[in-house]
Amino acid sequence: MSRNAHPEMLKALEATERGRSPFENEIRRLPLPVLKVFRAGGRISPAGFEAAPGQLPDIRENAALREAFPRLCPLTGSQVLRATAERRPEVSGRRVAVLFSGGPAAGGHNVLVGLKKALGAGNTLLGVKGGPKGLLEGRLFEVRDEDLARILNTGGFDFLGSDRTKIKDHEQFKKVKSVCHDQRVDALVVVGGDDSNTNAAVLAEYLYANVHADGRGVQIVGVPKTIDGDLQVEDWLPISFGFDTATKVYAELVGNILQDTPSSRKYWHFIKLMGRSATHVGLEVALQTKPAVAFVSEEIAEKKLSLSQIVDIICRAVARRAAKGMHYGVVLVPEGLIEFIPEMRVLISELNDVLAASNQLLGEIPTMAEKKDFIYGKISAASAKLMATLPDEFEDMLLLDRDAHGNLQVSQIPTEKLLIEMVANRLHEMRVNPGPFVGPGSGQVQLTPEEVARFQKSKFSTNSHFFGYEGRCGAPSRFDAAYTFNLGLTAGSLVLAGKTGYMVALNALDRGGEALALPLTGLICVERRHGKDELVIEKALVKTDSPAFLFFLANRERWAAEDLFASPGPRQLWGPVAGHMPALMALNQGYASLKFDLGEEMDVS
Ligand code: FBP
Repeated sequence: MSRNAHPEMLKALEATERGRSPFENEIRRLPLPVLKVFRAGGRISPAGFEAAPGQLPDIRENAALREAFPRLCPLTGSQVLRATAERRPEVSGRRVAVLFSGGPAAGGHNVLVGLKKALGAGNTLLGVKGGPKGLLEGRLFEVRDEDLARILNTGGFDFLGSDRTKIKDHEQFKKVKSVCHDQRVDALVVVGGDDSNTNAAVLAEYLYANVHADGRGVQIVGVPKTIDGDLQVEDWLPISFGFDTATKVYAELVGNILQDTPSSRKYWHFIKLMGRSATHVGLEVALQTKPAVAFVSEEIAEKKLSLSQIVDIICRAVARRAAKGMHYGVVLVPEGLIEFIPEMRVLISELNDVLAASNQLLGEIPTMAEKKDFIYGKISAASAKLMATLPDEFEDMLLLDRDAHGNLQVSQIPTEKLLIEMVANRLHEMRVNPGPFVGPGSGQVQLTPEEVARFQKSKFSTNSHFFGYEGRCGAPSRFDAAYTFNLGLTAGSLVLAGKTGYMVALNALDRGGEALALPLTGLICVERRHGKDELVIEKALVKTDSPAFLFFLANRERWAAEDLFASPGPRQLWGPVAGHMPALMALNQGYASLKFDLGEEMDVS
């Protein structure tokens, strides 16, 4: 029977266009916790700054740094600042621009709301459309209160947009200077990851003075963003924003798949998780869901494991579970795994060199087979041998696309599929001839003859997944919503306090929160990149002696042997679990529980 839709129902559905779903309407109304230092007389008020007890590593001995930052180094040094209610700045007439740089991360919009609230009605917030590229093009506009009411607590970077342009050469600096001069910009807030904050430091040095006619410069303040979680500074900055939301989304999806495995009892799921190089994302998701196998790239690099040994680890887990009748499981694969396997790293680097040196020549070689012969002749014997063990599809992939810098785009490699294929081949060998793999020898799976027989009869059916973009733009978790709003308040306060060359941070997240300003010069170190020394903010990788990794290490064998998985469910914006922070962070910071405390809630809409 066909029936016409009810007109009221049609109207209700139409009303949800442009971010007006019932969910989105509801989250815009959610109050946010506000650090005590930003509250005065029941209202939000910008804070002043004072020296915090403790410093970043001393930079006085670093000649390269002092040479690159002659004005910033003596000004900001290694001294961390903390917000104080004592000296609240009373400044008006400032024009402050803000831009997003790099991949989106949940909570970016709340940074803008916090920033505007700190600046108050007496100062102007300018949004930069389209990230650093938009800044070079002078695409600035005034952000109004009504814009903020619309974006509060929503995900994505769509209000401003973002891009990955690096502002690093002299012409670009000159361009930024003239844009700031022409549009009367007093300060620029850069919301980005390690590279963007490194660029922010360089900009702070360049724009330190003489941008405006009266000799004033442009203040630069960074805000730590990236779902990868690799912008961390020991006790000062426990995590970057966006990490909590992304990992909660991935943990929900992984949890759902884990729940499916003993229900359907027939699949091994190989799940690659975004997070670029570091495995903070993978580790957090493993802590939340307890899968059969999860790899941490940093451990693989430290133990110098080969691809073949990684395949063995999975095969042992598959065999042990199959012997118990568990023909299913989940393997978490970090996005950057390939680069951390020492032999793969060498192979990729040799290929990068050969392809760069022989680009033109290779273009003239007609067939893929001949190209391969040519390349195999130019790489080391060990690399050629490894290459020959890879499935054809991956061999071809390693020879193709390079980015603008001549590097392989490792994130494009479907590592999860590579592992599936190699594991399937190895399992086939094990079933045909279990002797060398299954038995009492070291590294072998210990199985009884009955269990071996069960394993030999078992099937290995698989599914592959890549969870990445699903986690970057969802509405921020309660942690990210609160964290980013207070980061915005800190950035706005720093600007009004006249500071430049700092990245904002919050710590003491389990006890009311402390707002901090970390001197960018104190975060920068010398790193060898593409064969030369560069001054950069170092990526924070997973430490294998950290409490979070040690917890994982102590439990993973049990997670492999039995079904001990947990399904954390959707990230919750209301209710008791809404107030939870990332487990990895709580463990590494020595917090007693997952509950965050960033002050009393206020209606900030
Ligand atoms: P940022 O470091 O810029 O925040 O980006 C993080 C990230 O999501 C990585 O996890 C991922 O490798 C990358 O961006 C993918 O971005 P793109 O789609 O631009 O390649």
